[in-house]
Amino acid sequence: MRAVDIIAKKRDGQELTGDELKFFVDGYTRGDIPDYQAGAWCMAVLINGMTEAETTAYTLHMAHSGDTLDLHRIAPFVVDKHSTGGVGDKTTLVVAPLVACHGLPVGKMSGRGLGFSGGTVDKLESINGFNVSLTTEQFMNTLARHGIVVSGQSADLAPADGKFYALRDVTATVPSMPLIAGSIMSKKIAAGADAIVLDVKVGKGAFMTTIEKAEALARLMVKIGQGVGRKVAAVLSDMNQPLGAAVGNALEVREAIDALRGGGPADFRQHCLTIGGKMVELAGKAGNLAEAEELLAASLDNGQAWEKFVEWITAQGGDKSQLENPDTLPTASLVETVNAPQSGYIAAINAAEVGKTGVELGGGRQKKGDPIDYSVGIVLHAKVGAQLTAGDPLLTIHANDRDKLEAARKRLLAAVSWSDTPVAAPSHTLKIIE
Ligand code: URA
Repeated sequence: MRAVDIIAKKRDGQELTGDELKFFVDGYTRGDIPDYQAGAWCMAVLINGMTEAETTAYTLHMAHSGDTLDLHRIAPFVVDKHSTGGVGDKTTLVVAPLVACHGLPVGKMSGRGLGFSGGTVDKLESINGFNVSLTTEQFMNTLARHGIVVSGQSADLAPADGKFYALRDVTATVPSMPLIAGSIMSKKIAAGADAIVLDVKVGKGAFMTTIEKAEALARLMVKIGQGVGRKVAAVLSDMNQPLGAAVGNALEVREAIDALRGGGPADFRQHCLTIGGKMVELAGKAGNLAEAEELLAASLDNGQAWEKFVEWITAQGGDKSQLENPDTLPTASLVETVNAPQSGYIAAINAAEVGKTGVELGGGRQKKGDPIDYSVGIVLHAKVGAQLTAGDPLLTIHANDRDKLEAARKRLLAAVSWSDTPVAAPSHTLKIIE
């Protein structure tokens, strides 16, 4: 078999066999197939798609590129969640300890930033010392000891996704349904959780821009997960505007800390309760979602979730003093507030534009392996539906370069649309698929 023939077959819109997909996934993971061929293949998949059979085979080969964990010797039931990617999405930072503090073990693999969307691994790395690249043994030991662990792809865990993920980020091949399904479900299958909640984003700041596409992706992933014996549910939510207020790695860690201490933006808190609540419900620890959310809300307010967060971050090498004093997290040298240019109601805040501005400020990568600036980003002071008077604070830009700050100001002002008449705040959770 030759990689070039497999690329040509997909370029011509034909269905690949399981053996061809295995050859390609294994060859790229070992380093026998170079980046330029894998990049061409990803683009052919993005343009021509994959059948359900191809996507399932691709996902399973990706999952089996490293260890696939059996967690049952550690815990009878482990839960996990995964987002399809959004702007300002720091949900894992809150939900993982929130669920784990109820004695429900959370074992999770996450990723870095992808395109305009941020990544949990990058956010966690803005905390000094936090180790995101765990061996199988470290993953199992941390889960056994603390009931919570989050790792990025490593040499042991989903190494194929580690390589394809970094490549897709910089080859404009992220928004492909089969590649997203394979990337997410391979990590979920490898990490071994019994129940998985998929946080599927819909809208301008998501890779699936319509509810129809998001639902198709959700149903495909649910089917792949159920096919290997996992309990899976998907929550579809609005990503036309950023989630919460902060966009940018260290800024989002600060916002997660606020939420874990009972504060933070209302939409973000509610989103965490819904995703966490669904995890609790799937594990059978609550009769329904409302009951689960009530249970979790109490632990955001009484400090239980915060204590678990500190335990988790410290267990993976993170600096506890930065959590207790978030001002010591990476901070940008230029911090400027942009005021509302007019009076009126905010009609839209284009999340993709906000996400791309964050990348341009240095918070994301232009090329594979680029270092990123953890300190930069954007904090919104108002969301869709808010009524502002000209001159009210609209958003704050955190930058380390004056030219980039000026470019960000222009781009962000253009990303906000205004209305003279009242605008209803959009509903956040759109649909739940079991
Ligand atoms: N999250 C992932 O892990 N992979 C994707 O492709 C998109 C979001």
